Amino acid sequence: MYEILKSAHSGWRYLVVILLLVAVVKAIAGAAGKKEYTEGDRKLNVFTLISAHIQLVFGLLLYFMNDWYKADSSVAVGRYWKMEHIAMMVLAIILITYGNARSKKTADSGAVRHKNIALYFGLALILITVAVFAMVKADPTRSLFGIS
Ligand code: HEM
Repeated sequence: MYEILKSAHSGWRYLVVILLLVAVVKAIAGAAGKKEYTEGDRKLNVFTLISAHIQLVFGLLLYFMNDWYKADSSVAVGRYWKMEHIAMMVLAIILITYGNARSKKTADSGAVRHKNIALYFGLALILITVAVFAMVKADPTRSLFGIS
C-alpha cells in the first residue's frame, strides 16, 4: 500500500508542476495583454488547485504512515523529510489555494485576476522547484526526474 502511494505521489508531481507551469505562463500573458479572464482560465486554475490538493493528501498519508515526523533532525536527510519537505510543500499549496481564491473576484478586471494567479501560482512553482532541488541535495537516493 505504502509503495503504491509513494509511486502515486512521485508521479503526480509532474501533473502538478506541468499544470502550474501552464497556468503561470497563461496568467503572465493574460496580465501583460490585459486579457479577459475566461472560463477556460478558471478551469485550468481550478484543475491546478485540485491536483495540488490531491498531492497534499498523498503526501500527508505518506508522512504519517511511515512516521516521518519521528525522523532524526540532526542529519540533513532526516531534517528534510521530517520538516523541510512538508513545510515548503504545504506553504506552496496554501499559496495556490489563496491565489485561486483571489482570482475569483469578479469585480476585479481580467488583468488583476490574471496577476493574482501569476503571483501566487508563480511563487508556489518556485517554492516547489526549490524543495525538489533541496530533496536531491539532502537525500542522494532521490532523483530529480525519476519516478520511484
Ligand atoms: C506539490 C507538492 C509536492 C510535490 C511536488 C512533492 C514531491 C515529492 C517527491 C518528488 C518525492 C520523492 C518521491 C521519490 O522518491 O520518487 C516526495 C516524497 C515525499 N513527499 Fe512530497 N511532494 C509534495 C507535497 C508533499 C506534502 C504536502 C507532503 C506532506 C504533507 C509530502 C510528503 C512526502 C513524503 C513523506 C515523501 C517521502 C515518501 C517516502 O519516500 O517514503 N509531499 N514528494
